[in-house]
Amino acid sequence: MNMRTFITSTGTSIGKSFMTAALARQARALGRSVTAYKPLISGFDPAHIEDSDTGLLLQSMDMPPTRENIERVSPWRFTAPLAPSMAAKLEQREVDFDELVSHSRSAIKGKEDIVLIEGVGGVMVPITDRHTVLDWIAALDIQAILVAGSYLGTISHTLTALTALKQKKISVQSIVVNESEGSTVSLPDTIEELRHWTELPIIGITRRSDSDYRDVKELQSLLAFKEAA
Ligand SMILES: Nc1ncnc2c1ncn2[C@@H]1O[C@H](COP(=O)(O)OP(=O)(O)OP(=O)(O)O)[C@@H](O)[C@H]1O
Ligand SMILES: [Mg+2]
Repeated sequence: MNMRTFITSTGTSIGKSFMTAALARQARALGRSVTAYKPLISGFDPAHIEDSDTGLLLQSMDMPPTRENIERVSPWRFTAPLAPSMAAKLEQREVDFDELVSHSRSAIKGKEDIVLIEGVGGVMVPITDRHTVLDWIAALDIQAILVAGSYLGTISHTLTALTALKQKKISVQSIVVNESEGSTVSLPDTIEELRHWTELPIIGITRRSDSDYRDVKELQSLLAFKEAA
């Protein structure tokens, strides 16, 4: 079954890469071919690729971190851990938005059963001086998964992100609530509250210990959900 999904979130460090890598692994375990992209990455340190989103996604596909593979998964890499527009300026560069869109379009047209594109930061992170992640997703005509946390404040962040996505006519496939570290609000309570505000499918991911994070069974329903569609 053909699944093309853009993974965005309410903010940075919410769990997009965690979720994308877990979904890629799960899909592969089910015998699906998958490529997970992180086309734009900032805070990229070539000396520590294994700690980067690019490295994590490559691992999830069992692809070694060769130059070619890094270039394939993350063609736009910036050193500073800033929004791409800001990180690019520090290197006297800028992201060519049309090139980014055409790269993502080619990725979407790939032969794999599943193509996952991880965004960068939250839904309105600037990519250029005139485009945010929202414009990128809207230009692709692709469904999005919104990854949210379970921390105090997430309901407002999630509803704000959903409103922004809706305004750009981006179709949201589901919301994934990834349990936040040390949250004072429980994951089930967060999901229950969100259900009053949206009809979208909501999947909860409980927080893992470092050792067993690869086996995120909660995401199986997402693959099944797509299959039924
Ligand atoms: N459910 C979870 N259980 C355990 N650790 C998690 C979980 N979700 C995320 N993490 C960890 O939290 C950190 C932030 O998550 P992640 O890197 O996936 O966020 P992100 O949304 O991709 O951030 P960015 O905006 O930088 O791309 C990572 O170290 C990740 O391994
Ligand atoms: Mg990430």
